[in-house]
Amino acid sequence: MRSYVDAFSPYWHPVAFSSELTAVPLPVHLLGTELVLWRTGSGVAVTHRRCAHRGADLSVGVVTPEGLRCGFHGWTYGSDGRCVRVPSQPAAPIPARARVSAFQATERYGLVWVCLSPEPAAPLPEWPELEDGALATVPLPVLEWDVAAGRMIEVVLDVAHLSFVHEGTFGNPEQPEVLPYEVERRATGVGARIVYPALAPATDGMPPRVDRTTLTYDVTLPFAAKLAFKPTLFYVHTVYAIASPLSEEKMRCFYFASYHPRLRNHFPDMFVKSELAILEQDRRTLEGVRPRAQPLDFASEVHTPADRLPIEYRRGVIALRLGKPVDGPAPE
Ligand code: FES
Repeated sequence: MRSYVDAFSPYWHPVAFSSELTAVPLPVHLLGTELVLWRTGSGVAVTHRRCAHRGADLSVGVVTPEGLRCGFHGWTYGSDGRCVRVPSQPAAPIPARARVSAFQATERYGLVWVCLSPEPAAPLPEWPELEDGALATVPLPVLEWDVAAGRMIEVVLDVAHLSFVHEGTFGNPEQPEVLPYEVERRATGVGARIVYPALAPATDGMPPRVDRTTLTYDVTLPFAAKLAFKPTLFYVHTVYAIASPLSEEKMRCFYFASYHPRLRNHFPDMFVKSELAILEQDRRTLEGVRPRAQPLDFASEVHTPADRLPIEYRRGVIALRLGKPVDGPAPE
């Protein structure tokens, strides 16, 4: 089995919202690696964060037309990681080892994505509806939790927890049964459509209301999930959760929703407030789960048919760790 870092380095992971990356360098972490991002004339550059000279933190350097200038002695690095200027020895050849590792970065869906391998194993998730101009989006503040990225995506897919963890927000404690559902296994992930009797709590004299909400799940391995809500009581919207692995036990989750622009006057405030309350319920539960790392077997925990979707997702993650096709045999 491949190590966690080796298995997931060849995939694109979001490391920041594009809006966070301004004219100054931005420090980020991914898979145990300290990185620094900066804007160039043609896009985003990403390199290791420690200067090759004396290990200074390049994220407190300065972005110049030539590249990123270290704040300690002024060495300047291009987007390919090579040092292009040593101010103390301007006439001398620049040592070949005066360089930092550089990686690939791209921007899409309002996020900066990084791949730590020269050859990405898969493209970014395909969410064309976010690029045709028909939808508006609203992001949440980045969630940084002591939770494995895979455990985070599993809980997004876990219908059986809704009636318990989310009591008081939209979970329906009176109807915890999960009726049989099908899971579609794909070469890039899994998908399912499940009806859940969500409960809108009583407010302002209104009694609680049950809404049979259709939840449509679409997962792109390793750590991206899209969940569309087709409700009658709540606003129609789709949430996108992309867990970026800091380590095998810790992640930063980029979470946002798309919605119809005519809801612009109501949806963003409502979404951010209610979704943060819902996610805080998940955080309190997930940070207490052990082991923190997503299990790499099916025998160490016990499953029921209600867990079919998260366990099919886990099967896909295990296949990536094993270097096998993700549409291989189903788990026992
Ligand atoms: Fe960066 Fe010296 S430590 S230039």
